[in-house]
Amino acid sequence: MSAPDEQICTLISPLDMHIHFREGAMLRTVAPLSARDFAGGVIMPNLVPPVDNLERLLRYRAEIEAAISGMGFTPYMTLFFRAYSEAELRAVRPHIIGVKLYPAGVTTHSEAGVQNIRDAEPTLEIMEDLGIPLLVHGETSGFVLDREREFLPIYAHLARRFPRLTIVMEHITTREAVALLDEYPNLYATITLHHLQITLDDVAGGLLQPHLFCKPIAKRPEDRAALLRAALAPHPKVMFGSDSAPHPVSAKEAAACAAGVFSAPVALPLLVEIFAQHDALDRLQAFISDNAQRIYGVTPPHKKVILQRKPWTVPQRYGDVTPYYAGRTVEWQVVQTML
Ligand code: DOR
Ligand code: ZN
Repeated sequence: MSAPDEQICTLISPLDMHIHFREGAMLRTVAPLSARDFAGGVIMPNLVPPVDNLERLLRYRAEIEAAISGMGFTPYMTLFFRAYSEAELRAVRPHIIGVKLYPAGVTTHSEAGVQNIRDAEPTLEIMEDLGIPLLVHGETSGFVLDREREFLPIYAHLARRFPRLTIVMEHITTREAVALLDEYPNLYATITLHHLQITLDDVAGGLLQPHLFCKPIAKRPEDRAALLRAALAPHPKVMFGSDSAPHPVSAKEAAACAAGVFSAPVALPLLVEIFAQHDALDRLQAFISDNAQRIYGVTPPHKKVILQRKPWTVPQRYGDVTPYYAGRTVEWQVVQTML
């Protein structure tokens, strides 16, 4: 007997529009987990040293492709923001989906980021002319709970100053950031899985949970509720971006814990679980793929991913990385993918 319909969810070409793959052995552990469930993803450039020139970018993409060959996954590459000449950007444009801007020092491996946003403007002008999207880690160096809110006027300034530049507010965590989407036509956003599920209470309200510690830090219940409303609608300007960010267990379970939630192996099943709980499975396709395809103008490989309601227990480790939901039950799983 075949399973009744509400036990099956079919998605076409799911995309993860914000992922950290790292390099070397870590890349080879984590990249296939994304490539199994997704048809493509936006690969972050915060390596050491950063991906900030064409040669490094092409070498990095080749390393990714070697780790996931034949899996029907397109790595959409990004360049780490610095002052670039027009010639440099023209040369790299065919190979990238956008340029990722980090304010200096706000997160993992962002030391080479931007000190003063005004200094970025000549390069942003060239990007606007060449039609290269700008992806932004939008946090100041202020009080940790206020960093995103304090950054919102910078988003507003950039959106006004560069009206033809596509600006993606990465991993938004506040209701004010959601509201800003409706103020400027050229502002878009990604939303992670974990920010749809957790608040600061889950991170630090009881025993400290290093595997839930990330930047931007999870905020208040009202913020989570606003993110959930935007994802479930879905707001036409939001896309899924996991911000899956693996660190070895030794860097997480440490006196100085690294920021990052490693959600790649559970991202798609848990999103289906959330949308099913809200009776919104018919709206997941837009959040997980269609909005991103429209916003970025990309066409990923056609990949049909079928999930079934079939509980499983998340492993404690993938290599030496502890995943989000380790040891917990996830209701849905991918049972078939067809290229
Ligand atoms: O928690 C985070 N981890 N936030 C980021 O912005 C970077 C990421 C990482 O690379 O580990
Ligand atoms: Zn990130």
